[in-house]
Amino acid sequence: MLQHIFDSVEQVLCALADFFVVQARQAIAARGRFAVALSGGSSPVKLHELLASDAYRGQVAWPQVYFFFGDERDVPADDPQNNYRMARLALLDPLGIAPNHVFPINTQLPPAEAAQVYTEAITDFFGSGPAQFDLVLLGLGDNAHTASLFPHTAVLAVAIASAEAVFVEELQADRITLTAPLINQARAVAFFVFGADKAVAVRHVLVDARDVAEYPAQLIAPATGEAHWFLDAAAAAELP
Ligand code: 6PG
Repeated sequence: MLQHIFDSVEQVLCALADFFVVQARQAIAARGRFAVALSGGSSPVKLHELLASDAYRGQVAWPQVYFFFGDERDVPADDPQNNYRMARLALLDPLGIAPNHVFPINTQLPPAEAAQVYTEAITDFFGSGPAQFDLVLLGLGDNAHTASLFPHTAVLAVAIASAEAVFVEELQADRITLTAPLINQARAVAFFVFGADKAVAVRHVLVDARDVAEYPAQLIAPATGEAHWFLDAAAAAELP
């Protein structure tokens, strides 16, 4: 686990955007393309806006970038809670990303079918080898969930690299999520977490005893890749 801790959120976002650019350039130079899974929730909005800004948009060969999603809420694509919509408004549309370079989870389908179709799209994209994202961006909930790997859900025990549907009791809502094995096949994983309300969850995941049912983000440990944590001082306040 590589920790990158900064005083302010703005510094975290710039460091993360710089990291994104390096990962993209390395992947495109090595394999001609960069496959990234975007995180959901509210934290990524400022990162998306920064990457689409004049300061960064010229640093990445966007036509070689392919966008996936770490998870999705079971809501229509035009719902304010939809992660794809959030990314489309702040990043994909401003950058003019071609639709065939974006792989949204089809929430018009029932959750289990949407997960199956998404798994097939990922498998088709990566072809015969293992599905290996170049970068998976992840947030962290204050209950130590990441993507839609929520505490005490059956998806935590799924041992295959796939996308799965999960009903989240505490939200009374269905989600579709990448499984931990699929995330852990990535070349790099980057958590970005800021705010004092996340400090205890960060400690649970990075310091406290292993209890993956309670703290699912502990499952994330890329097999051959690197796990990076981009934190502001507030979110890192409980770290030794
Ligand atoms: C989602 C996300 C989820 C998110 C955390 C943090 O769809 O909600 O994928 O894992 O990253 O809940 O969310 P915030 O950034 O809004 O705090």
